[in-house]
Amino acid sequence: MLMLLVFGALLHEVSLRGQDGAVPETHRAPGEPLFDYASLRLHQEHIPRFLHNNRHIATLCKKDAHCPYKEHLENLNYCWGYEKSCQPEFRFGYPICSLGWMDSVEAAQDLFWKQADFGFARERLEEVRVLCRPESTSDSSLMCSRYLQYCRAANLYLDFRSIKRDEERFKEDFFRKGEIGGHCELDSHLLLSEGQRKSPLQSWFAELRTYTQLNFRPTEDGKCDIVIEKPTYFMKLDAGINMYHHFCDFVNLYLTQHVNNSFSTDVYIVMWDTSSSGYRDLFSETWKAFTDHDVIHLKTYDSKRVCFRDAVFSLLPRMQYGLFYNTPLISGCQHTGLFRAFSQHLIHRLHIRQEGPQDGKLRVTILSRSTGYRKILNQDELANKLRTVPMFEVRVVDYKYGKFAFLDQLRFTHNTDIFIGMHGAGLTHLLFLPDWAVVFELYNCEDERCYLDLARLRGIHYITWQKMDKIFHPEK
Ligand SMILES: *[C@@H]1O[C@H](CO)[C@@H](O)[C@H](O)[C@H]1NC(C)=O
Repeated sequence: MLMLLVFGALLHEVSLRGQDGAVPETHRAPGEPLFDYASLRLHQEHIPRFLHNNRHIATLCKKDAHCPYKEHLENLNYCWGYEKSCQPEFRFGYPICSLGWMDSVEAAQDLFWKQADFGFARERLEEVRVLCRPESTSDSSLMCSRYLQYCRAANLYLDFRSIKRDEERFKEDFFRKGEIGGHCELDSHLLLSEGQRKSPLQSWFAELRTYTQLNFRPTEDGKCDIVIEKPTYFMKLDAGINMYHHFCDFVNLYLTQHVNNSFSTDVYIVMWDTSSSGYRDLFSETWKAFTDHDVIHLKTYDSKRVCFRDAVFSLLPRMQYGLFYNTPLISGCQHTGLFRAFSQHLIHRLHIRQEGPQDGKLRVTILSRSTGYRKILNQDELANKLRTVPMFEVRVVDYKYGKFAFLDQLRFTHNTDIFIGMHGAGLTHLLFLPDWAVVFELYNCEDERCYLDLARLRGIHYITWQKMDKIFHPEK
């Protein structure tokens, strides 16, 4: 018995280490670091903010001669902006606004910050309420922001023994009562009052509406065929073949990680899909910035009862007033800390290097399309004309899947000062341009806001063609 207990304690420590990187004393040789600092994998500018929100790690760092982040300990006031402890002057960034229809520049900044910047995370955090209350630490729990756009669950029980799959990717009555739930005190009235935005890519209401207060403790009472110990993110994904839509998934996952204050890559991503079809993902390398493991299809668990110790239901890609699909943005403002941080985070974790800016040289990239439509008919002429400017180093690229690996595309984009392209999802690359870059949407195809707004969110310059009489539509 004693042996077993000791073994249990050891297991507990091992899993603790996996969770937050702290190296327990019993596992540490003298003179070894107190924390696995390398596991953080955060951009330099993000480290003091991370330490601000994880004071226990800052404290370890203070004591630890091996801590590589000593210099950041001076800046523990730095924060993202959504934290209660964040003083306004230490925020990661402010939108840049000109005086428009709002009373003051400050009012405009504040509104834009809430619509599209870390203020969005603050509003979700303020909304979080407990829907299923635990009575003891081994109980389950469920808490969510409004309309169930973001939720966090502990000891969640999912029973896949009698589910039925068809073509539908986001079936609404997938789990019946008793097939999803936990051992906690459920406020069903509150739960059922959050349904106004029920829609596959806008809320988790359809999935959680049947959440049931169980009369057994799923893990402790041996009711689970599988227990997932690793923190898990559930995601309902938008189209994986379209960069604009798929990056709505990634931005919202990043935002979710801020809301939950956790950036570990030792987590599972479970793709919530009630069909049995696969998912075509042309940008799958991007997942490496979020997880060390393969993305898991929900069907993997079919016919079993599966319990998740710690699960987060991610913010969704097409939420009303969400990001960045159809975000209503006030005019006159641009630049968000959120999109800059997202870009930095991915560039850092995917090991993309910046080789510029370069002296006396501007790197111009023309994005060519190999589809039959929205082509630049006089592309060669344009490229040759640009090449006559000695300062320009002009490259014409076709970011076609299969021809150009996605990480190489990002490397190219990130090392571009002027990015030129026709309206299309490929322009989503502008998220990864350096801060000083310009994007030139050669023609916006009368969809004026889409990439203009994305460029505003990212905080880079945007220009588009103005002389409509010089645009020639061969099909008209
Ligand atoms: C959410 O955050 C908590 C602590 O901030 C962490 O322990 C947990 O693992 C996180 N969950 C996920 C799914 O990352």
